[in-house]
Amino acid sequence: MSVRIGVVGSVNLDLVASGAPLPRPGETVTGAQFAQHPGGKGANQALAAQRLGADVFMAGRVGSDALAESALELLRKDGVDVSAVMSEIGQSTGVALIAVSPDGENQITVASGANARVETHDAALLPGCDIILCQLEVPIEAITGASTRAQETGAMFAVNLAPAIAVPQPLLETMDLIIVNEIEAAYYGEAIHQGEGLVALTLGGDGAALFKAGQEIARAPAFNVPVVDTTGAGDTFCGALCVALAEKQAPEAALRFASAAAALAVTRPGAQPSLPWRADVEDFLAEHA
Ligand code: RIB
Repeated sequence: MSVRIGVVGSVNLDLVASGAPLPRPGETVTGAQFAQHPGGKGANQALAAQRLGADVFMAGRVGSDALAESALELLRKDGVDVSAVMSEIGQSTGVALIAVSPDGENQITVASGANARVETHDAALLPGCDIILCQLEVPIEAITGASTRAQETGAMFAVNLAPAIAVPQPLLETMDLIIVNEIEAAYYGEAIHQGEGLVALTLGGDGAALFKAGQEIARAPAFNVPVVDTTGAGDTFCGALCVALAEKQAPEAALRFASAAAALAVTRPGAQPSLPWRADVEDFLAEHA
């Protein structure tokens, strides 16, 4: 039977200009190519988990505009339950303006729109799940509501602390799993190691590590792949790690599974179009055994 993952998070439409150097402040660069994809850290992580074999339920908000259906298109197509994604009258759907350089690095500016209207009680719309997963593109009140829902239903409470913003220490300590990259880890410092949960740290080319009470308990090396676009790779890691832990994979196997999924995502353009399927990851792991 599939594991069940609830996501409380953002839904965006990504407007992507790729292939030109990233602009410096005040600079205009030309020569990019345009593409539009569904995105948002919440929706990306939900779709990643769904494609990797979980049954996923998403709570969030979109605007009452023409962008909403495009933003939800792949979630619907691949079977994520979006019955708890509500439409906010008078608000715009979240939009991310993304520049991708020729070597695959990106810059992202998000206009949150309806994502800023996700409320404390939205998480209560989620059914019972093995894990409830959040990110920080929705208000802190929504994260608090998700924490409460996880406690009420016995779900593991996982949060990707991205983008890094201030989070009250008591809320950090309700998290059973925190997922951060090196920049986010530096922002939060020791605060993320004070609770009893796990901390997963992604290290780019150096792989990923898992900590408990500040002590490293598992590590997985990075996979060497050609980088096309790193957008969504962190989200892929988060969704994949939650699937693996919900399936009770051992810590090192779970990290390796998540690293493989993220490696596949960087070899393809876009956020949601780049998210791998379970069979892709299993084949990749078999090839790199
Ligand atoms: O993590 C990548 C995502 O960040 C993009 O899809 C964009 O929507 C922003 O939320």
